[in-house]
Amino acid sequence: MRDLETQPASTKPIHIRATGVDTVLKPLHRWVWSDAHRCAHKLLRFAETEADGGRDIAQAAERTGDPLLRRLYLRHAMDELRHADMFRTRGRVMLAALPRQVAGAEANWFAPGERGLDDLHVDREKDDTLLAFLHLSERAAAMRFAVYREVLTKDRETREVFESILRDEAFHMNYTRKQLERVSPRRHGLRLWTARLHRVWKVYLRFAAAFASVMGAIILTVQYFVVLPVFAWAAKRAAGREARGWTDATGRAHTLGTQY
Ligand SMILES: [Fe+2]
Ligand SMILES: [Fe+2]
Repeated sequence: MRDLETQPASTKPIHIRATGVDTVLKPLHRWVWSDAHRCAHKLLRFAETEADGGRDIAQAAERTGDPLLRRLYLRHAMDELRHADMFRTRGRVMLAALPRQVAGAEANWFAPGERGLDDLHVDREKDDTLLAFLHLSERAAAMRFAVYREVLTKDRETREVFESILRDEAFHMNYTRKQLERVSPRRHGLRLWTARLHRVWKVYLRFAAAFASVMGAIILTVQYFVVLPVFAWAAKRAAGREARGWTDATGRAHTLGTQY
């Protein structure tokens, strides 16, 4: 296994090709990253995810009984915390250079950061299931960051941040795979498939939550502008038919001239 302390020394651009949905959505990613305000806020959001992930992986290092994995997890955790610093610094520099503006939509649903780390529950995982989960998350993050690097043609500094982080993500992706094969030589394929199904389920839940939110907004808007005016009109019409003043149960009008 390569020495952890010498990784990654190269400054050459890393070759990771995005595949699947992220490639199809490249024009959308280009649009998302074209707005400097949105870009700055997204980087700050990414910093939170990376920092959370770093803390969880540090916890995994404490829990594992495997000395090599402990060392690798600690290295991994430090990388994620460094990524958090890099994203936060770049996001703050960008915001400081921009006029004040209310933050718009960040489009996090289809342009997330190192998604997967936010779903990590290290206390429920064994070494092999955690490595399978981490491998898929790091792989997805590496391919996504490769797309972001590609579309950030006009923002050299942010592009360099992604370039640098991408190198670490490629290392995370590779070491988790190799360690999974080491700790679970017979069942690593099964572990990967189980982790894949888990990710598909999470994607479905995210989609269902987003869809429910949109549908809820549409239904409430229709109720407010279409259904409520009909009730308001009917209430107003019924009020017009009511006799004025005080009436008894039979509808006859009374005056309040006497006490009885
Ligand atoms: Fe990261
Ligand atoms: Fe990572």
